[in-house]
Amino acid sequence: MRLTAHKLTTTASIAALVGCLGFAPTIASADTAADLKKGKEVAFDRKKGNCLACHQIAGGELAGNIGPPLIAMKARFPDYDKLRAQIYDARPNNPNTIMIPYGPHSVMSGKEIDLVTKFIHTL
Ligand code: HEC
Repeated sequence: MRLTAHKLTTTASIAALVGCLGFAPTIASADTAADLKKGKEVAFDRKKGNCLACHQIAGGELAGNIGPPLIAMKARFPDYDKLRAQIYDARPNNPNTIMIPYGPHSVMSGKEIDLVTKFIHTL
């Protein structure tokens, strides 16, 4: 009898666990979609990233061509941290860069740089 009760409890626990797992990806992807939207807004915002001043980016208008087009980013920057580092401060990769040091100059907050990096990483 005790064994059966134990089995029932275990079954219920597994069901609850599976239920949670079933929900988790839904919540995570909704979160990501919102993050990507915000990241795009910050990247295109002239008072924030203003990336279009120098880079062509899908979905952006009147882009400049001072920097390379931001395409195939996931293939060229498989490492998210390297992409974030480039956006945070381009100077370690090129001391003469004209790209704005967004992090050190506090043009964007750490959170905003995260959002922009997430968005750029999908291109
Ligand atoms: C004032 C012009 C300018 C602005 C604004 C600018 N960049 Fe750049 N960016 C460059 C240049 C020029 C390069 C080429 C490498 C270098 O000279 O540092 C570059 C390189 C990059 C690279 C590396 C690309 C590659 O193919 O290796 C990434 C990623 C990047 N920029 C992202 C961004 C993002 C995201 C923004 C907006 C938050 C931005 N840049 C804003 C000028 C700019």
